[in-house]
Amino acid sequence: MVYSYVIFNSLFVLPKFTIRKGSMVMEKCHIAIAGLGVVGAETARHLIERQAILSEKTGVPMMLSAVSARSKGKDRGFDMSGLTWCDDPVALTNIDDIDIVVELMGGSDGPALALTKAALSSGKHVVTANKAMIAHHGAELAKLAEDNNVQLCFESSVAGGIPALKILREGLAANEVSSVAGILNGTCNYILSEMEEKGLAFDDVLKEAQALGYAEADPTFDVDGIDAAHKLTILDAIAFGNVPDFEKLSITGIRDVTDFDISYAGELGYRIRLIGRATAGGMAKVAPVLLPEDSALAKVTGALNAVYYEAEPVNVVSATGPGAGAGPTASAVLSDILDVASQRKAYSFGKAVSALKPSTASQTNAAKSCYYLRLEVADQSGVLAEVTDVLKAHDISVETLIQKGHETDGSATLVMIVHETDEAAISQASTALASVATVHGVSSSFAVMR
Ligand SMILES: NC(=O)c1ccc[n+]([C@@H]2O[C@H](COP(=O)([O-])OP(=O)(O)OC[C@H]3O[C@@H](n4cnc5c(N)ncnc54)[C@H](OP(=O)(O)O)[C@@H]3O)[C@@H](O)[C@H]2O)c1
Repeated sequence: MVYSYVIFNSLFVLPKFTIRKGSMVMEKCHIAIAGLGVVGAETARHLIERQAILSEKTGVPMMLSAVSARSKGKDRGFDMSGLTWCDDPVALTNIDDIDIVVELMGGSDGPALALTKAALSSGKHVVTANKAMIAHHGAELAKLAEDNNVQLCFESSVAGGIPALKILREGLAANEVSSVAGILNGTCNYILSEMEEKGLAFDDVLKEAQALGYAEADPTFDVDGIDAAHKLTILDAIAFGNVPDFEKLSITGIRDVTDFDISYAGELGYRIRLIGRATAGGMAKVAPVLLPEDSALAKVTGALNAVYYEAEPVNVVSATGPGAGAGPTASAVLSDILDVASQRKAYSFGKAVSALKPSTASQTNAAKSCYYLRLEVADQSGVLAEVTDVLKAHDISVETLIQKGHETDGSATLVMIVHETDEAAISQASTALASVATVHGVSSSFAVMR
């Protein structure tokens, strides 16, 4: 380490501390940001307005030097004078003295992937919040980073302001993780908790969430579980040393969770949450599940995220916090930038890409679980016996049952929690029940997580 003093700007004086970019030694850390939207503009603002404070934490003078976005003229809420502007984000990699490229445009492919590959190939570190890109191309990009002796960091891609990946990769590094589970999408959690609190239907709460800016105009990625699955792919890879493989995940979103289910679950002492869960046994699944109402995850409401880790020897570790938004996400992006500038090196997925193993996750979950079932049936004698006979034929027994008759149309709703069984048995029993004449339909089926 070389100690001498350089005057970086009029704001502060720092010891000259060398950091390595590829095989070259840097005395300052020049940063470029591609994407100046919600996260990018907030990250840029902190790098400019808190430059001295952030640099002191690394011992290396850090400065935002260049930026790229689609529209040059837009007011971004920070002073862009003195920054190099590139219309083409990939052109940022041609600026020789840029050390860290921060990719905050989004999209699994396209300009984000082109920029990330170009930056890593040219020996520049990359920090990104792009879960879609990492879930789909993580192994290839991490290998490119290793080959070029640079860092690829994506802490902000999972659970926003919660250091969800650092907990796994650093704090729990010496543990054998058995499961990681969490509320990984704030939009879904907001919708489910609003449905629960106000007794409203999914479509009404979705509209409200869109008006408040909690949900996108096209909510597909959020409500269909894809965003949570991108994050779970990354958690699964780091927790279990798997090659990130989005295609292996089983994904169910929240569109089919009705206000009836939320209300019946409440009567039975449960709340419904969209949970992403991966286990050492090969489960990697995003789905709505019932959680006991006094469990910690069930108590996470609104747009918050939470992650639970079960590991040995630590036992259980959990973290709750804001999973999205400008401040929380920029907080995690800046933390990665500080790591790179401080030369805190880490493999992107906790170990070398060559040491990762192919994911063994399967679309059908063999693990046993209790299940919640809601059936619409004819309101007549003997129906309950018919239903339990079908369940019995599939080795499924009922733990708790609620029956509600509907006087208007002579039908009834049967809501039950069944004892532990596997997903295949539930699926086969549901198909068999649907063919019983007095069963009008199996309306819902969710696993219970205790
Ligand atoms: N928002 C969150 O709370 C959050 C949380 C965690 C992770 N993330 C991730 O962070 C990333 C950014 O999200 P965001 O919410 O900040 O997105 P955003 O507000 O939509 O901003 C995207 C930015 O990228 C720029 N951009 C898009 N295509 C471009 C292109 N071809 N060339 C140059 N610039 C381009 C846009 O330019 P213009 O402004 O000129 O249109 C905009 O500044 C995504 O990967 C997202 O998944 C976001």
